[in-house]
Amino acid sequence: MSVICWINGDFVPLEDASIGVSDFALQRGYAVFDFARTYNGHLFRFGDHLARLRQSADALYLPISVSDAELTGIACRVIQESSMERPAVRIFVTGGDCNDALFENSNIIVTGEERAAVDPVLYETGVSLLTHEFQRELPAVKSINYLNAVRLEPLKREHNVFDVLYFSAAGVTECPRNNFFVVRDGVLITPAENVLPGITRSVVLQLATGSMPVEERMLHREELPDVDEAFITSTSKRIVPVSQIDRQPVGAGRPGPVTQSLMRLFDEYVHEWKG
Ligand SMILES: Cc1ncc(COP(=O)(O)O)c(C=O)c1O
Repeated sequence: MSVICWINGDFVPLEDASIGVSDFALQRGYAVFDFARTYNGHLFRFGDHLARLRQSADALYLPISVSDAELTGIACRVIQESSMERPAVRIFVTGGDCNDALFENSNIIVTGEERAAVDPVLYETGVSLLTHEFQRELPAVKSINYLNAVRLEPLKREHNVFDVLYFSAAGVTECPRNNFFVVRDGVLITPAENVLPGITRSVVLQLATGSMPVEERMLHREELPDVDEAFITSTSKRIVPVSQIDRQPVGAGRPGPVTQSLMRLFDEYVHEWKG
């Protein structure tokens, strides 16, 4: 596998790409990113990923001096010139050298990335989640800060769960790298606030709207024992059914009919994807 990276104007092999130790990303954790994948060789909803990248950068006053058209061309070339089985791209915007003026410079990096393979059994059995009280800072921003997610890895191993599910006074929100949905009495519900606006989440909402009642609203943690189905969504994993939350089965403890139907609709949607 060889991976190409574009960094501030130059295409280089990934192993030759670097930024300085004095970058704001390392000095202050000041950077945002986005992660997009391909279906059928075409970048999926790349315009949406770029829009979210710009929203994240704008929220932190990070300048992006490259146009969307240029970034799209760069990402396509990175994919074409890399050799990857499951192609994806990661775009970083970092604060730049901390000796330079704040908010005036940034490093822009577009790197190819081999997307991790997902165990197909997860889609048949569903996964288990453990609720954990936490609220991401600036939830609509896709920053590089996944400190809490990494810190909780030993807890996940200890409880033998696939992931944690964050909740706070604002209700249940999301997993560290996935959005969260439930189905209750035939209504598809997903938290409205304090979550990352996931691209997969938006596709699921688009596919569901018109064929079932949909509610984007606050989801109370106390509602979880009463839901019939649950699933998580992300770019890399698509729709993964949730079969257990806090050791209690969700519904019948296996992927339910609404989840399965949305998984089928999503598969059909991406099967047709031509960019
Ligand atoms: C906090 C958080 N929520 C949700 C998601 C899912 O978003 P997407 O569907 O755009 O991958 C991610 C993706 O990394 C994430 O970091």
